Amino acid sequence: MMSTGRKTLRWGVLGATSYIGTHLMPAISQTAGCELVAVASRPERFSRAAEVGRIHGATAHPDYGSLIDDPRIDVVYIALPNSDHVDWTVRALEKGKHVLVEKPMAMVEEGCVRIEEAARKSSRTVMEAFMYRFHPQQRRAAELLRAGVIGELRVVRACFAFAIEEGSGNIRLEPSLGGGATWDVGCYAVDVPLLFFGRAPRQVNAHFSCRPGAEVETSAVATMDFGDGRRAVLDYSIDYGPRAWYELQGTRGTITVRNAWAMAEENGEITVLTADGVREETISAANHYRLQVASFAQAVRGDGPPHVTLADSRRTARVGAALVRSAAAGGAGVSLDDETAVR
Ligand SMILES: NC(=O)c1ccc[n+]([C@@H]2O[C@H](COP(=O)([O-])OP(=O)(O)OC[C@H]3O[C@@H](n4cnc5c(N)ncnc54)[C@H](OP(=O)(O)O)[C@@H]3O)[C@@H](O)[C@H]2O)c1
Repeated sequence: MMSTGRKTLRWGVLGATSYIGTHLMPAISQTAGCELVAVASRPERFSRAAEVGRIHGATAHPDYGSLIDDPRIDVVYIALPNSDHVDWTVRALEKGKHVLVEKPMAMVEEGCVRIEEAARKSSRTVMEAFMYRFHPQQRRAAELLRAGVIGELRVVRACFAFAIEEGSGNIRLEPSLGGGATWDVGCYAVDVPLLFFGRAPRQVNAHFSCRPGAEVETSAVATMDFGDGRRAVLDYSIDYGPRAWYELQGTRGTITVRNAWAMAEENGEITVLTADGVREETISAANHYRLQVASFAQAVRGDGPPHVTLADSRRTARVGAALVRSAAAGGAGVSLDDETAVR
């Protein structure tokens, strides 16, 4: 990894999407040692980049290629449809940029391998933007688990749902752009058991449903077998009312994180249930986008590895792809290779 010392890191963003303007660009500008300098849209949407750039004081580029060629830029944030994540990440790394790429980094493990090779060759840092991992409530849930408050972890349940409008032209409904609930809300739900069990499952089973007329899955229920009686149960949807929740079931109690993918500036809410009773904890609001930007900047400067590692991203891609294979086979069990395959 190449150290960039203490100099200000200059960021450019590919894709002038609305949440980028609301959350990510302010997070970059408000982080010490980071500066937002540019945003790019496709040529036919240049007016969007121009508008977002005007609001946030960033230069607008009329195509993505010219932004990654911009010599002022040290770090590229990729906020493009899922289908474009691997190619643009590799291209930006090849141009000597560090890259923070939206989840999912890739929809097959081979995509992460390509990215890993490009990062190694260019000595640049890359990380998948799983922003929820930076909210302090995840650290608190892990602390409670490590302290043995709920005994040994046996079952992880994770649920993420929100309804997108019919016919809204949403990239989440477009198969060629990597749409579908699995790679949208699903990858967050997938990440939770991988995070808390600290490994990939041995086997997964998944059942998908499609809303009428959709060409991608819009809801899913899945199970994962981690061996020794440890399991995960997930459900996720882009058709259902809002739900964002996970639960760690142990031999002596449960930890429930009720606002799991809390948006920036929302409190975390944790309930601990044991034989001693119920305890509620409120975790003060934290802007996880800003924490993510600051953490990535530290990794770029050589102050430790990225918080979400490439091994984490490879695991998420493998498991997500296995869910897709299981659902295509009517919910049949799909075994994953031995975890040692993931470095
Ligand atoms: N971390 C979070 O909180 C969060 C929230 C929402 C989404 N996401 C992730 O961010 C990524 C983008 O999602 P989004 O909800 O922001 O989507 P969106 O609003 O549809 O934006 C997608 C962006 O991709 C660019 N794009 C390139 N080719 C496109 C095409 N053929 N059709 C449509 N857009 C195209 C567009 O940028 P230009 O028009 O400027 O070229 C567009 O602004 C996804 O990977 C998603 O998983 C993360």
